[in-house]
Amino acid sequence: MENRKKRIFSGIQPSGDLTLGSYLGAIKNWSAMQEEFECVYCIVDLHAITVRQDPEVLKRRTIEQLAQYIACGLDPEKNILFIQSHVPEHAELSWILGCYTQFGELSRMTQFKQKSQQHADNITAGLFTYPVLMAADILLYNTDCVPVGEDQKQHVELCRDIAVRFNGIYGDVFRIPEPFIPKMGARVMGLKNPLNKMSKSEPEGCVFLLDPPEVIAKKFKRAVTDSDMEIRFDPENKPGVSNLLSIYCAITGKTPQEAEAEFAGQGYGTLKTAVGECVVNKLTPIREETEKLLADRAHLEEIYRMGAKRAREIASETLKTVHEKLGFAAR
Ligand code: TYM
Repeated sequence: MENRKKRIFSGIQPSGDLTLGSYLGAIKNWSAMQEEFECVYCIVDLHAITVRQDPEVLKRRTIEQLAQYIACGLDPEKNILFIQSHVPEHAELSWILGCYTQFGELSRMTQFKQKSQQHADNITAGLFTYPVLMAADILLYNTDCVPVGEDQKQHVELCRDIAVRFNGIYGDVFRIPEPFIPKMGARVMGLKNPLNKMSKSEPEGCVFLLDPPEVIAKKFKRAVTDSDMEIRFDPENKPGVSNLLSIYCAITGKTPQEAEAEFAGQGYGTLKTAVGECVVNKLTPIREETEKLLADRAHLEEIYRMGAKRAREIASETLKTVHEKLGFAAR
């Protein structure tokens, strides 16, 4: 395989506005990787339609998501930023890999089980085969490392299994990717219900990247803690307080012990205000930069077209190799 910098691939669905969870679990780490690695970041619109989307809203969120990627520090020259449906190789490799994936493997995916409960009236084949498309995303770019939050680890592991199986039959076709899960922020919990992952489906306990400062402060003030009075990092027994401390640590780079020492003897009110403030300080410049970028749509369109062109150069090479290995007639 070619001699090059290690390659990173990751993506986020434009199925909702970006949240503090997707920022701390994924994007924040992406921008830290852009100097050392060759990075490819995608807006996975094909994944988003596994549940019903309003076409106008999907279009708006897709462009807003690109603006937020850039506002979070992803330089469109250094990184390849693109929209999944603009590179048709993703859908094509997904079909092929689906023929090397077991029904049983897909049935065991936690996210499928959860989402099929949430969307019981619309359990589509797309929802079921979703992780195969994700494997195609990753394998098309001969990815070394996939920075994601904890909830996506199982999908990256399935991707590895599919790649190993395919290589076992056809030789060394795919690079086997490693997941990268951050120490802090890999599983940001809801502020209203700290036993559930922070998610757009529970908007009251969910902080969105574009929320105004007063809304963020209010969400933190109303965060659920516990009836005890001690600020201690103990996710099992103190999920609410520990979640606030992890958010604080993920943003400030402090360890939970340092944060505990800082807040020792203080009340939950102080903790909530301090975490809210540090989140506001982090997100305000991102929101302002996003607004600036969104004022020039033509520039954003130029960026995603250039990204798709660069992505296709890599993806089409991989797909060509796959076709040859499978014995498809040359085009
Ligand atoms: P998605 O769109 O649900 O989430 C995007 C990224 O954000 C992380 N994340 C969180 N991390 C910590 N705490 C949370 N509360 C939280 N909520 C979301 C997710 O782990 C993810 O990293 N299938 C993927 C998208 C995808 C992808 C890929 C990722 C498609 N193809 C290829 C990597 C590589 C998904 O639905 O993520």
